[in-house]
Amino acid sequence: MIKLLENPLRVGLKQEKLPEPQIIVIFGASGDLTQRKLVPALYKLRQQRRIYPETTIVGVARRDWSDQYFRDKMREGVEQFSDGVGSEDLWQDFSQGLFYCSGDIDNPESYQKLKKLLSELDEKRSTKGNRMFYLSVSPNFFPEAISQLGKAEMLADPVKTRLLIEKPFGRDLSSARVLNRVVQQTCREEQVYRIDHYLGKETVQNLLVFRFANAIFEPLWNRQFVDHVQITVAETVGVEDRAGYYESSGALRDMLQNHLMQLFCLTAMEPPNSLDADSLRTEKVKVIQAARLADVENLQKSAVRGQYSAGWMKGKKVAGYRQEPGVDPNSTTPTFVAMKFLVDNWRWQGVPFYLRTGKRLPKKVSEISIHFREVPHLIFQSAAQQVNANILAMRIQPNEGISLRFEVKMPGTLVSTRSVDMDFSYGSFGIQATGDAYDRLLMDCMMGDQSLFTRADEVEAAWQLVTPAMTVWDSPSDPAQVPQYEAGTWEPAEAELLINQDGRRWRRL
Ligand code: BG6
Repeated sequence: MIKLLENPLRVGLKQEKLPEPQIIVIFGASGDLTQRKLVPALYKLRQQRRIYPETTIVGVARRDWSDQYFRDKMREGVEQFSDGVGSEDLWQDFSQGLFYCSGDIDNPESYQKLKKLLSELDEKRSTKGNRMFYLSVSPNFFPEAISQLGKAEMLADPVKTRLLIEKPFGRDLSSARVLNRVVQQTCREEQVYRIDHYLGKETVQNLLVFRFANAIFEPLWNRQFVDHVQITVAETVGVEDRAGYYESSGALRDMLQNHLMQLFCLTAMEPPNSLDADSLRTEKVKVIQAARLADVENLQKSAVRGQYSAGWMKGKKVAGYRQEPGVDPNSTTPTFVAMKFLVDNWRWQGVPFYLRTGKRLPKKVSEISIHFREVPHLIFQSAAQQVNANILAMRIQPNEGISLRFEVKMPGTLVSTRSVDMDFSYGSFGIQATGDAYDRLLMDCMMGDQSLFTRADEVEAAWQLVTPAMTVWDSPSDPAQVPQYEAGTWEPAEAELLINQDGRRWRRL
C-alpha cells in the first residue's frame, strides 16, 4: 500500500503549454486508426482544453466522402471507442473543424487540391500555416506520400510543418534506410516524428521517472547487482482481420523490433544529460549499438520463433494461426518470438536481457522485470527453506504499477522465510493514470517535442540488431520447422529452453 504525500511535488516530464492552432492532416482517414484512436484522442484533448478550438482536422483518403459523412463516422468512433461526446455543444463545435478531402496518394493533383483546401482553412480557422501530416496509410505508400508532399512543397517550412509516420518504419534495414533517405530528401529530421505508441504509454514514461527521479535504484542498476532482465509483452488476441498485413510482418517486425526494443532501451540506457529529445535518443541508440544477439552461430540459443496452433481461450475454442482467414496454410510467419540479448558495455556486460512477445498467450500483460542476484552467502541453513532473489517488476499494462519482491521471516519460532511483494499500483491515485498513448503523442508532436519519437539512426540500429534472426527466418523454410504453441499457453518448448539453458525461468505472469 502506497501512501501519497499530502502535497505531492508535480514532477511533470515536461511542462505543458497549449500548442498553436494547427491543421492535422490525416492520410488514410477512412481507416480504423483514425476512427478508433486519432480523432477520439484529439477530441479528448479538446475536452480537456489542452488544444485551441481552432485546431482543425483534415481527413484524406481515396473514398468519396463528404465533410458531413466524415464527421458522422468520427462521432461514431468517439462514441464507440472512447468516453462518448459528452457535451453536445462541444462536439458540434469540434466537428465543425473536421474536413474531408478525397485524393489518391500517387496523384500530384490530389496534393494541389489539398494544398488549396489547407490555405483556405488557414484563413477561415486562423491556423497560420501550422500543419501536421500524419501518415496512417499502408506502409508501402509512405515513400510515395512523402515525396509527393515534398514535390508539392507542403513540408517546406521546417518550423511550421511536421511529418508523423506510423509504424512499421521499413520492413528491414535496407528498406528503412531507403525510407529514411526519402524523408531526408524531403524535410529535416527535426520535422519527423516516427511513432512507436509504446513510448506514449504512461507507465513506459514512468520508467524514466522511476530510474532517474529516485536515488536508491540507480546504484543497483548494473551487472554487479542484476542477474538478468525479462521483458514480456503478451497478448491474448490472435491475428484477427489483419492477416494481409501480419503475414508479411509477424511478431518480430510487428512488436519486437519496435515496442519491445523501446522498453529494452529505456531499461538499459545510461542517464541522459536532460530530457531534451536528442539527449534521450542518443542514449537509447547507444544501447542498441552495444547490444547483440547472445549467440548468432547457434541461433536457437538466442532467438526462438513460434506460431499458435488451435487451442482454448477463456473456455472458447480458437483456430490456429494457419487456419485463420487470409493466412497461408503453410505460413512460417511467427506469432511469437523470444530473444536473448547481451549488451557489451561497462554497465551490463554479461547480463542477459530476455525479450518475448506473442499473440494468443493466456493473458494480456506487459512487464519489465529486473531479477537481482542471489545473496552471496545464505546464513539460514534450514533445508526446507528456499530464499528467492529479489525481483523488481514494472507492469506496463494492465494494472499498471511497480512491485518489489523480497524475503521476510514467517512469524513463529522457526526461521522460515517467504517472498512478499511490496506493490504500488497506479489505481491507488484514484485517477486514470494510463491515458491513451495517442493523445500524448499527438500533443507532443503539436508542441514540437520529439523525445517520445524514434530517430532515423535508432530505427536503423533496431533493424540491424534483429537482422541475423530475420535473415534466417525469412529464407524459405519447412513449415514443420516452426515451433508451435497451443493457443492459450505461454510459449513453445523451444522458448522455455532458451532461458532454461541458462538455469533461469520465464516469470509466470
Ligand atoms: C501494434 C501491433 O503496434 O501493437 C499489434 O501492430 C498489437 O499487433 C498492438 O496488437 C499492441 O498494442 P497494445 O497497446 O495493445 O499493447
